[in-house]
Amino acid sequence: MLLDTTAINQQRNFFDKHADLWLFGYGSLIWKADFAYLERQPAYITGWARRFWQASHDHRGTPEAPGRVATLIRAPGAVCHGMAYRITPDVLGPLDVREKNGYLREKVPLTFLDHNGGEAGQREGLIYLASGDNPAFLGEASLVDIAHQIANAHGPSGSNREYLVNLAKALRELGVEDAHIFALEKQLEST
Ligand code: SIN
Repeated sequence: MLLDTTAINQQRNFFDKHADLWLFGYGSLIWKADFAYLERQPAYITGWARRFWQASHDHRGTPEAPGRVATLIRAPGAVCHGMAYRITPDVLGPLDVREKNGYLREKVPLTFLDHNGGEAGQREGLIYLASGDNPAFLGEASLVDIAHQIANAHGPSGSNREYLVNLAKALRELGVEDAHIFALEKQLEST
């Protein structure tokens, strides 16, 4: 594979001495929580925007025909909504394997939301970030080209289309507006 971040992430053990920590999911971690968590709560991070700019060679595509999955880019003033999970540090081992294709553990401030969408406190949390310098970072492309790549990609975890459709559905359920994701979903429908 292009880059396996599993071993690097084992060294990024920011919360290892804590009994628990908050993990913030902004992509498949919103709708595919196949890990043990103690509780979860909608939350957001600021200064980051969600983009389908990261290649997936291992889940939603193959090395020959990679898919495109979510990562975050720096965007001053932007708000990225997602789901925060309170987990124990041992849960990160399997998550490092799941997120190994270029994602690194990073610390970020999280703002929690209550049932009415009001702010419910802040805590430092963890994200998996595939930054612009990782080998699987594809970067910007037109909606037409991204939708075309997604429509044609399939991998061991399923179709790339399913990833995008499930993410858009989960964001709607959270009452979140995300122009990039919803425009891409619309483009995919006609692709
Ligand atoms: C995330 O969901 O927070 C990371 C990217 C992904 O696994 O889709």
